[in-house]
Amino acid sequence: STAPLKVAVTGAAGQIGYSLLFRLASGALAGDRPIELRLLEITPALKALEGVVMELDDCAFPNLAGVEIGDDAEKIFDGVNLALLVGARPRGPGMERSDLLSANGAIFTAQGKALNKVAASDVRIGVTGNPANTNALIAMSNAPDIPQERFSALTRLDHNRAISQLAAKTGAPVTDITKMTIWGNHSATQYPDLFHAEVAGRNAAEVVGDQEWLESTFIPTVAKRGAAIIDARGSSSAASAASATIDAARDWLFGSAEGDWVSMAVRSQGEYGVPEGLISSFPVTTSGGDWSIVEGLEIDEFSRGRIAASTDELAEERAAVTELGLI
Ligand code: NAI
Repeated sequence: STAPLKVAVTGAAGQIGYSLLFRLASGALAGDRPIELRLLEITPALKALEGVVMELDDCAFPNLAGVEIGDDAEKIFDGVNLALLVGARPRGPGMERSDLLSANGAIFTAQGKALNKVAASDVRIGVTGNPANTNALIAMSNAPDIPQERFSALTRLDHNRAISQLAAKTGAPVTDITKMTIWGNHSATQYPDLFHAEVAGRNAAEVVGDQEWLESTFIPTVAKRGAAIIDARGSSSAASAASATIDAARDWLFGSAEGDWVSMAVRSQGEYGVPEGLISSFPVTTSGGDWSIVEGLEIDEFSRGRIAASTDELAEERAAVTELGLI
């Protein structure tokens, strides 16, 4: 179809937005198909967002069919086919976890309701803003008319980080790394799994042959990469987060590669022992806007423990937002 793909981005004046919008507009998501951007911000950030839109104009992107900005979710989400929920409340000094969950709860409750009311019937919703899995759960729970499988949270950045670390370790190009999986929460408890990944078709854990590296270097490097970037750069990962947000959305809408899979946090129906209803990261294949969890993988004792640790954390987050009345 040549009708513009309507893509909403929230938090559009933020760091990730500054990279994401230009990649979306230049064709990284939908190639030559025209794209219309619908950008949501809070009122005090609208002026800065106007400046970003001036820069988008100045790029003269051939496939950018229009840009609309505003602070009213019901207007911005009207008729959108894809909503990338990036804007979130960062953890401020002295803020407790429950403060963070309730501040974000308010945002994702309202945005879930607005999407429920005005989004296109084919809408897909990807949540990047943290705590991403639980924010997605809150939005999903507040959008009863949107099928639950239309909500996902971003673990693709973790997935890409894991690919990059494995490629560096083995000397293989990233294109040789397949079947990477991030399990669980987008947090330090996530489990990047090398037991099902492959390097040029060979089992990655066997190619590496070093359980000590896997446990003491690989897993913590991937899981704590966000903190390492803050340390080095002075602010959190933004361009890589934008790139992963696009990778995830592109594969969701247009399909994952043959013979491979990707990581996406989606609603569990109890697969691999993950409690039903949690938005947890799984290996998934995608096609035509739908995902399906890769089934039948053998999970050993080590992996089972790691997955459970991360999904226990997700269950705790769910209990906290349930208690706050957000879902
Ligand atoms: P940022 O603070 O630079 O930008 C966030 C923007 O969201 C701000 O412009 C703010 O005004 C806006 N915002 C706040 N409340 C809003 C609302 N109710 N509606 C619309 N916009 C709203 O943050 P940055 O660096 O762009 O990161 C955004 C989020 O992405 C953060 O929560 C961050 O933790 C998360 N993140 C997630 C990653 C992942 O892999 N899932 C990776 C990196 C960041």
